[in-house]
Amino acid sequence: MAGPDHRSLAWTVLDSVRTRDRLATAALRHATERQNPPPEVVSAAHRLIMGTIRERGYLDSVLARLVERQLPRKDKRLMDLLRLALYEMLFMDSIPSYATGSRYVELARRSKGARVAGFVNALLRKAANLDPTAELDARANLPAPARLSLPEWLLDAAQTVFGESTEDELAGLARAADIALRTAGALPRSDLLEELKREGLSPQPMPENDRGLLLPPGESPYQTMAFARNRFRPQDRASQFVTDLVIAAGRGDLLDGCSGNGTKAIACAESPRFTSVTAADISPHKLSEISARTTLPLRTLTLDLTAPDLPPNSFDTVLLDAPCTGLGTLRRHPELKWRRKPADSYANGKLQGALLAGVAPLVKPGGLLIYAVCSFLNAEGPAVIDNFLATHPHFTLEPPAQHLTGTAKELTGRLAAANNTLPMHKPGMLLTLPSVMDGDLFFVALLRRAG
Ligand SMILES: C[S@@+](CC[C@H](N)C(=O)[O-])C[C@H]1O[C@@H](n2cnc3c(N)ncnc32)[C@H](O)[C@@H]1O
Repeated sequence: MAGPDHRSLAWTVLDSVRTRDRLATAALRHATERQNPPPEVVSAAHRLIMGTIRERGYLDSVLARLVERQLPRKDKRLMDLLRLALYEMLFMDSIPSYATGSRYVELARRSKGARVAGFVNALLRKAANLDPTAELDARANLPAPARLSLPEWLLDAAQTVFGESTEDELAGLARAADIALRTAGALPRSDLLEELKREGLSPQPMPENDRGLLLPPGESPYQTMAFARNRFRPQDRASQFVTDLVIAAGRGDLLDGCSGNGTKAIACAESPRFTSVTAADISPHKLSEISARTTLPLRTLTLDLTAPDLPPNSFDTVLLDAPCTGLGTLRRHPELKWRRKPADSYANGKLQGALLAGVAPLVKPGGLLIYAVCSFLNAEGPAVIDNFLATHPHFTLEPPAQHLTGTAKELTGRLAAANNTLPMHKPGMLLTLPSVMDGDLFFVALLRRAG
């Protein structure tokens, strides 16, 4: 029996993203594990899924214009199908639009019957007559939520943070992400670069450190021998930036609170900077992955860090890479902009505050507490730090650039200059803005405990 084509695969994945609360990348992996389609089908499905999710707000505005009465918004699966079809017609030019339309009509017929297929057919015939270039030109005149394809509350929240540069920063978050890797262990980066080139990929060195590599969005490194041999770990550029900051600014005994499966903790353990590295997380499952990812002697602790049962003053450096909305990872996980709700940021802000208060006593006098989240929302960044400083006057903010040298310092200088122009900016706090650095958007703050 023939396997699924990229359209039916994409439709299945969108359903699973919506109904099972999965990330699109995880849902695609799950679907392909069962069905095992050829790599070119997976890669076309990936482009179609990510693009459709990213452009959902814009696509809905075009569909609403084409439909005679109202869009069938209650039938979410049908809405997914219409968005996929329109995305393919406007943004992917593999076959003529009318032919694309008929493939989706056929999918609708098989899954939903002749009546719904008739409706899809009528709508997609109109869509097939659209001129993609003219449509994209007309986009500039749409109201902001449709033009930028964002829910209104998130656009408002972004405007509070970014002010006049809102559209630039959101455009950065709407780009397809480069794939970023970090060389594992003591392997020289140049060796990994050559190995990946021999396997047909086109890696570039990450300018600001000597461990990172960047691959263009379409290239997957996960089928390579280098991956099978654990020669690198996937790690986004901004996440590497935070890791490098921890390595440069920290010392002594390090606690990576909220370590997850240890991406940052392992990179820190590979650096000679720390005498010991402890990875702690509330999830024993995530911690259990660390031993499969490294042979380095990392201590792992399953702990609720809002009330950690550890002696005070035990660590010179504490990293708190706290749970958050993840809205700074929209390039890789665009579904989060439709999934998150305003209340999420406040709930997260409360938990982040409790985690900071939980780990603060563990920092030795004179030691450093580094707070990071991959979110740009005020409620998860500046507001959390302001509350923390108000209740912990023995901590002060420390600007990151002073710890860095070379290209990393220069990049941090550019980030700081761009941060200075933001309305919500507070000196000493840093957002890794996509207009400056093509990576996730992290918020990071260095908090020094008085000696
Ligand atoms: C943003 S992720 C960390 C990612 C990780 N540092 C990395 O570099 O891949 C946040 C982590 O916080 C953990 N977490 C959530 N609530 C926690 C709590 N109360 N105590 C400890 N860890 C918690 C989650 O299990 C999750 O692994």
